[in-house]
Amino acid sequence: MLIALGSDHAGFTLKESLKGYLVQNGHEVVDMGTDIEEISCDYPDYAILVANCVADKKADKGILICGTGIGMSIAANKVPGAYAAVVHDLETARLSRTHNNSNILTLGARLLSETVAMEIVNTWLNADFEGNRHLRRFEKITNEEKRICRTDSVKNAKTVIFNHPLIQHKVTMIRDKNTSVKEFRELVQEIAGLMVYEITRDLPLKKTTVETPVAKTEAYTLAGKKLAIVPVLRAGLGMVDGILQLIPNAKVGHIGLYRDPQTFEPVEYYCKLPGDIEERDILVIDPMLATGGSASAAISLIKRKGAKKISLVCLIGAPEGVARVHSDHPDVDIFIAALDDHLNDHAYIVPGLGDAGDRLYGTK
Ligand code: RB5
Repeated sequence: MLIALGSDHAGFTLKESLKGYLVQNGHEVVDMGTDIEEISCDYPDYAILVANCVADKKADKGILICGTGIGMSIAANKVPGAYAAVVHDLETARLSRTHNNSNILTLGARLLSETVAMEIVNTWLNADFEGNRHLRRFEKITNEEKRICRTDSVKNAKTVIFNHPLIQHKVTMIRDKNTSVKEFRELVQEIAGLMVYEITRDLPLKKTTVETPVAKTEAYTLAGKKLAIVPVLRAGLGMVDGILQLIPNAKVGHIGLYRDPQTFEPVEYYCKLPGDIEERDILVIDPMLATGGSASAAISLIKRKGAKKISLVCLIGAPEGVARVHSDHPDVDIFIAALDDHLNDHAYIVPGLGDAGDRLYGTK
């Protein structure tokens, strides 16, 4: 099982002991901090990191430790899809799984001995949700989450519009009809790279040791999350290198769709994806999100091939396209550099930047 761990300063020592205990028992651990006992820190920072990791299914379960366990549970339970239980003994450990379906365990390091904490962890990890009448009750909680988030998925799919000054500046330059093909191509790569830098902000890390020319030190590397980028041909290709510069080990798939000029509906003509697509986080990339038809069709195609976690990355979106993708794929997050006004009668984004493919390759 992959377990995300977090603590504040008060829980640091117990976190370190539990980490060893979990690894010894065959689990994989992502330690999200804190890393220092001596510096006082704020428990919500770690609670929210771990809760998002579990709610996004980047970890199977989470364990959070502070002085009492209480602050961690209050903070973690603000994240939709996180069900954190403060546990003080073996009976509440078992019941928090069998009756409440908790996916995060919060412990009070100042109230528990290390031995009891390990027994609690062991009991909690080995107990299963019983379902039946408890499922009915649990669904009342998830239904309330859906009502608050107004979405069909437990964790609401989000649209992130980048307001970073560098991105906005470069988007203005690619909108300009006088920007040359060469400049346009370079700017698209740069914007894609800047966007991916933000999109990957929450990738889980794992601790490692590195030897510098001066000393041995603890450091972090990516916790083995596999990524794939899938450009929608042909304009999506314009963003690939900018992303690969930051994530050189990402695999690249390709999807070819063209828009029927009469119906505006997407027609598939090419699809080649990495073989282990179901194990990867997929970034579907396409500079323009206009009607959303192509993006939605590309996502459906990738899902049919087994992909489970997909995000859509575009430069410019129209409200119609964003709504279409969210409606067809409520589990897919959309990342765009700018949200424009509307589509014109030819399904071009207004003000947009014209045809991204033509501007990338000088074909007009
Ligand atoms: C820190 O002193 C303490 O307040 C914190 O660890 C936790 O117990 C909060 O609930």
